Amino acid sequence: MGEVHVIDHPLIQHKLTLLRMEETGPKEFRELTDEVSTLMAYEVTRELPVQEIEIETPLQKTTAKVMAGKKLAVVPILRAGLGMLDGILKLIPTARVGHIGLYRDPETLKPVEYYCKLPPDVNERELIVVDPMLATGGSAAAALDFIKKRNPLKIRFMCLVAAPEGVDELQQTHPDVDIYTAAVDERLNEKAYILPGLGDAGDRLYGTK
Ligand code: PRP
Ligand code: URA
Repeated sequence: MGEVHVIDHPLIQHKLTLLRMEETGPKEFRELTDEVSTLMAYEVTRELPVQEIEIETPLQKTTAKVMAGKKLAVVPILRAGLGMLDGILKLIPTARVGHIGLYRDPETLKPVEYYCKLPPDVNERELIVVDPMLATGGSAAAALDFIKKRNPLKIRFMCLVAAPEGVDELQQTHPDVDIYTAAVDERLNEKAYILPGLGDAGDRLYGTK
């Protein structure tokens, strides 16, 4: 079963609280999402391999570690996942980027796919799939179904807020995928919004409501 990593660093918790607040407007919401994503990316990349290279300091030759050049790609789930992309790329600027477009049908609450463009060599890459909200888990599970058809080496899923229901769903449907989140909240409401949550992430990022 995929592990759940709750990244509860004080800086992340502080910024997440600001994200939750109703009075936080789109500009600040985007900035905070970007900052939290950078901080979380630090943990999500913790297990990436390093290699020794030879260098010269001003004083002597030595060996020192650099990233082992692992091939990575970040895949935001449109549209709200886009808000997390740049924050992650700040730490891993050479990662490729894929996009997968899904929205949750407001009647059925089921995910509908409308776009998918991944790097051609995705089968040689480890992926970080990102979406701020893991609610029922339907969107994330469907996104991973599509993405897995292209045989990536490994997938990590990163979100800001998860509901216990979404965590269960993802662990059952994709037990090979670890989940990285800043919080696991209490539950879903009758419209499948996360409580206490932060509302509709896409609308808050882009001011569409
Ligand atoms: C939100 C969110 C997730 C999904 C989570 O997207 O960004 O993709 O809902 O819900 P689930 O776990 O129950 O599937 P939404 O469908 O509102 O689309 P948007 O990103 O275009 O706003
Ligand atoms: N999507 C969101 O943006 N927020 C929720 O609470 C649930 C799904």
